[in-house]
Amino acid sequence: MTNLSSLKQECTAAVNAANDVASLEEVRVTTLGKKGKLTEVLKTLGTLPAEERKEFGAAVNVIKEEITALLEARRAVLNAAALDAKLSREKIDITLPVRVEVKGAIHPISQTIEEISTIFADMGFSIAEGPDVESDFYNFTALNMPPSHPARQMQDSFYLAGEEPASERLRPSSSGAQSEPQEPKVLRTQTSPVQVRTMLSTKPPIRIIAPGRTFRCDYDQTHAPMFHQVEGLLIDDTTHMGHLKGALMDFLRAFFRAPDLKVRFRPSYFPFTEPSAEVDIGCSRKNGELKIGEGDDWLEVLGCGMVHPKVLENCKIDSSQYQGFAFGMGVERLAMLKYGIPDLRTFFESDLRWLRHYGFASLDIPNLARGG
Ligand code: DAH
Repeated sequence: MTNLSSLKQECTAAVNAANDVASLEEVRVTTLGKKGKLTEVLKTLGTLPAEERKEFGAAVNVIKEEITALLEARRAVLNAAALDAKLSREKIDITLPVRVEVKGAIHPISQTIEEISTIFADMGFSIAEGPDVESDFYNFTALNMPPSHPARQMQDSFYLAGEEPASERLRPSSSGAQSEPQEPKVLRTQTSPVQVRTMLSTKPPIRIIAPGRTFRCDYDQTHAPMFHQVEGLLIDDTTHMGHLKGALMDFLRAFFRAPDLKVRFRPSYFPFTEPSAEVDIGCSRKNGELKIGEGDDWLEVLGCGMVHPKVLENCKIDSSQYQGFAFGMGVERLAMLKYGIPDLRTFFESDLRWLRHYGFASLDIPNLARGG
């Protein structure tokens, strides 16, 4: 009969001697593999007299477990050592100057999103995200746009093939969020569904902005089928319209780097806010040239309002206790205005000459000292 204690010693020594992951794997195969030492010993069980078999089998199994644990522990040690070695090999000297032959530029969309995020981050907003392919429930229904709502037609939507809302499906379901899996899938027409996702998954107070792609069936000098928005949402139990106005005025003045920028709130309508407003900034349009921050003309830049109590309820938030504001803005529109880019379609043409002209140096990181 095999001497179990010397077998255990032999296996233990082999595990401890393995100096890298590959040799440890070899030890595992030669001890526990199909033809491994311990496996071979177990195979001899059948040749033993019945009374010895049970005891011997149990003893071999104990050793097997010990060696398995030992292998695991050794693997963890070797993996950590391998990672340490890799990290010290891959050290980067960040004090080296930028290589001049690197000619990449930051796209104005990325830069503008960074600028907007920097300003709102300073006001205590964090970033939230949601999927581009959204369900009808999050994109419309929960935002107080039930299936028959006329506002749905305002946004020409791309539904996924075979997912168009059939008239049968258009009937509002009574079960709210639970009906979501049957909802048709749509490329989100706005970033507002991230409001819904955030409210359903977090408890107030909530203070987020949600930058991201949006999609509508539209194409001309100021529209593209894919474009970007930044949504904002703040929910707590004290915030009112005055705070909304203050936050957006501060934002616009920082973004356009114009401390005296005139900002006007015009009553408007959005299904998900009540009251709702559109926001204009002061500008001049002399001889066809648009100048922001001067003159007596106005330019619309974003939509906003106090979150509709129905939206709060759809998102399981008690509207008798909580309230707050929301806003939404088009990133391309803001970038076009700030950087004088005349045609929205050029953002997505990947023309390197355009990118060299309108792009930003990779180290041109937005900061508030400079105004976003
Ligand atoms: N979702 C709107 C749109 O795409 C923009 C918007 C307006 C968002 C008002 C808001 C809001 O959160 O309060 O046109």
